[in-house]
Amino acid sequence: MATINGEERISTTDELLRAHAHVWNHTFAFVSSACLKCAVQLGIPDIIHRHGQPMKLSQLVASLPALNRSKSHCIGRLMRLLAHDGFFVELKAAAAGEEEEPEYTLTPASHLLLRTTPATVSPFLLLMLDPFMVEPLNWLTPWLGNDDPTAFQTVNGRTLWDYAGQNPAFNSFFNEGMESDARMVASVVIEECRGAFEGLSSLVDVGGGTGTMAKAIAEAFPEMKCTVLDLPHVVDKLPGRKNLFFTPGNMFEAIPPANAILLKWILHDWDDQDCVKILRHCRETIPSRQKGGKVIIIDIVVGHQKLKEANANGDKSTQTQLFFDMLMMVMVSAKERTEKEWANLFSIAGFSEYKINPILGLRSLIEVYP
Ligand SMILES: C[S@@+](CC[C@H](N)C(=O)[O-])C[C@H]1O[C@@H](n2cnc3c(N)ncnc32)[C@H](O)[C@@H]1O
Repeated sequence: MATINGEERISTTDELLRAHAHVWNHTFAFVSSACLKCAVQLGIPDIIHRHGQPMKLSQLVASLPALNRSKSHCIGRLMRLLAHDGFFVELKAAAAGEEEEPEYTLTPASHLLLRTTPATVSPFLLLMLDPFMVEPLNWLTPWLGNDDPTAFQTVNGRTLWDYAGQNPAFNSFFNEGMESDARMVASVVIEECRGAFEGLSSLVDVGGGTGTMAKAIAEAFPEMKCTVLDLPHVVDKLPGRKNLFFTPGNMFEAIPPANAILLKWILHDWDDQDCVKILRHCRETIPSRQKGGKVIIIDIVVGHQKLKEANANGDKSTQTQLFFDMLMMVMVSAKERTEKEWANLFSIAGFSEYKINPILGLRSLIEVYP
């Protein structure tokens, strides 16, 4: 590699071909997402799981009712890519006298896609890869030149939250995606970070959606009163039960008083000014630290040390965090934050201390104290 004026230049054929492969890998990365979505829509992980043993390609093809038989040959190619990407294990098997035929089994990643897995991520995947959510990214360049706050608004003429409020079908689709993520996160949080909730007498899950996370917390801590605050179109018709309550409202206007406030995947939806408003409201509503007051945030901490260690082992987590940052920019005029940016927000909003628990892979649970 030749360096001229600080710029790395290609100086050998090998470097030219490596640079070319790098550009192509990124040019065609969308093919991987599209094929994964297709496998989920066809129900392939569930079909292989139900089979109960390695499934031959011909058996898989025969189990796909929506498949036009003239396209049977396409499934082997779809499966070859998905096996290469780590979603299936491809084994080669041949009975005596027969031609070798691929067989497939699941991997931990495709287990997570099973509809029957409590922590299934399929609804979230289908939401994120819906043309409606993908389209604003195609408008990135025109949006950078116009006055719209988000590319979503360039495409749809209103904010994501207004759109969800006016379109019941999209509202349900969006909420199902969030519920699937909340189920996964709740199982890890209650297992790995129970201490963050122990001793709390009440908690408000602000922007808690349809209450999946709060429901899990209410069940794990039956002494705790759990309230979900969200916009009317999300919570209006939801029935509470035992120690779980739903309150329609706007977090910029009022947050019900509680021992602790949970903000899961909320602050990354808002710019710094709005985050400070939300955090100040939270601070006003909780008691002092001595009386157990705290805010619990579940969100990304970009480039956190634990991720850096994972990245050193070839993990792509920081890249995924940066993908999310672009999504937040395009969909809701917001961002993912580094620890320094989080610390700055907490200090402006009047909090004295915070603790990051990097227990959720790409995301962390952050306890913030008044
Ligand atoms: C990204 S979703 C997160 C939902 C849930 N916390 C979760 O992680 O599954 C953001 C939530 O904020 C809610 N929201 C948006 N604006 C709000 C507002 N002004 N007041 C209360 N909730 C709001 C949305 O309706 C949505 O349920």
